[in-house]
Amino acid sequence: MTVVQVATQPFSDQRPGTSGLRKKVRQFQKPHYLENFVQSMFDALGDISGKTLILGGDGRYYNDTAIQTIVKMAAANDVGKLIIGQNGLLSTPAASCVIRKTHSFGGIILSASHNPAGADGDFGIKFNVANGGPAPEKITETMYQRSLEITQYQISQTPDIELGLIGEQTVGNLQIEIIDPVIDYADLMASLFDFSAIRALLTQGQFRMRFDAMHAITGPYATEILENRLGAPTGTVMNAIPSPDFAGGHPDPNLTYAEDLVNIMFGEDAPDFGGASDGDGDRNMILGKHCFVTPSDSLAIIAANSHLIPAYQSGLKGIARSMPTSQAPDQVARKHQIPLYETPTGWKFFGNLLDAGLATLCGEESFGTGSDHIREKDGLWAVLCWLNIIAARQQSVDTIMTAHWQEFGRHYYSRHDYEAIPTEKAEKLMSQLNDSLFKLPGKICGDRTIRYADNFSYHDPVDQSDTEKQGIRIGFDDGARIIFRLSGTGTDGATLRVYLEQYADDSSQLAFETQTALADLIKLADKLAHIRELTGRNEPTVIT
Ligand code: G6P
Ligand code: ZN
Repeated sequence: MTVVQVATQPFSDQRPGTSGLRKKVRQFQKPHYLENFVQSMFDALGDISGKTLILGGDGRYYNDTAIQTIVKMAAANDVGKLIIGQNGLLSTPAASCVIRKTHSFGGIILSASHNPAGADGDFGIKFNVANGGPAPEKITETMYQRSLEITQYQISQTPDIELGLIGEQTVGNLQIEIIDPVIDYADLMASLFDFSAIRALLTQGQFRMRFDAMHAITGPYATEILENRLGAPTGTVMNAIPSPDFAGGHPDPNLTYAEDLVNIMFGEDAPDFGGASDGDGDRNMILGKHCFVTPSDSLAIIAANSHLIPAYQSGLKGIARSMPTSQAPDQVARKHQIPLYETPTGWKFFGNLLDAGLATLCGEESFGTGSDHIREKDGLWAVLCWLNIIAARQQSVDTIMTAHWQEFGRHYYSRHDYEAIPTEKAEKLMSQLNDSLFKLPGKICGDRTIRYADNFSYHDPVDQSDTEKQGIRIGFDDGARIIFRLSGTGTDGATLRVYLEQYADDSSQLAFETQTALADLIKLADKLAHIRELTGRNEPTVIT
């Protein structure tokens, strides 16, 4: 095997964000761009010689080209073995599952999650460590520092490998194993849930469901699990064939982008249950007939019903949620007398809590839900949680959700996004608001008084690290909250996220339309942060 040292120059924009390095495909296609980052990643990982890594991605445009490059660089950098999903495919949760199952050193996942794909779309690369979760900031920061000083990378001059061929191959001393991307994950799901109860639900009564794979990676996973193993009728999984540009869509399972499914679930003759997942399979959306379950409520409801799911029958160690996620799970934790952890946005903050056995379930308002079965959020897992709960309770989504509100109260919740704002304008808005925080506590705003106003910081109880400035929180005396944050995942200008939450526990107050219930808070958010004035926008781009 011939290895060449290629001279290169650093790029200044290779700092990984919340979920790895995400850029336009065109940026990744610039000469040496991908190679520089991969070499910086290998360098930052320390001694990788002889180690085993998992490799796969969501199948988007450039996935296979990047995989062939990474294979050649892994061979040149003395990696021992690569376990690769057939045709270069692995959903993010499946990659996490395979890293753990094979006790590998880590894994490289190629994805830009829900961001649009295709030649003009986005691409991304992230590294997950041995526990199956995203690399901690210490490591990603080292990758970035390395990328700023890189002068050369190593690559082997070998032919492309056969990505379609299940089994063993070699590239020099590097062993390659191509695996079926679905089986390990499907087996894991079968070990967590009551598949026979779900199979009975899907095959024996009137119950009907749809799952929208949004032309992305979960198609093959959902087809195997829902249709082949659980017996749902063929066609239950829609948009099931992954396409390199996600059929021109935006595979983000929310009320705006999962339009096909939303139209079905809110249309005439709607099925009983609808689920969807995103580009790389880690996000989820849950719908019932003519109803939508917010991700925050979904976490709370799964937690409250977790004893019905075999894997969680013996109780939960704790629940973790990101700071902007509603406080609905807190009510469940309080009642069950288990700890509730509030972390910054980003799945990686759950890893330590799960590893240390402090939390069993975690979730984020950004349509992510998961548990200690892997170290990523998991779209299909959330769908199976709901199916398992429905099968056990024999009730509709709507009935389960309404009963939950009756018991715990309802957290009206919505997120308003202002996308692609010029970065300076967004930063000015946040810094002005930040500067005004000290004078807010005690301020009377209509019927409510501000109780606290701060920029959230997190102390990790496991590794004792501190993470600061994670979003501005304004909390009111009646439990309402408004949170302002800039997205860490956008690739076009800045995205301002405004999270609105209001609590009601009076049974006559539980059935309002969400935006109506939140109308006062929405006005107040604008007044406090001068959103219209500073962004020039009259309304949000996306409301979830
Ligand atoms: C990714 C991460 C999530 C996080 C989300 C936030 O999806 O995996 O853990 O919640 O980004 O994105 P944002 O755009 O709000 O920073
Ligand atoms: Zn994703």
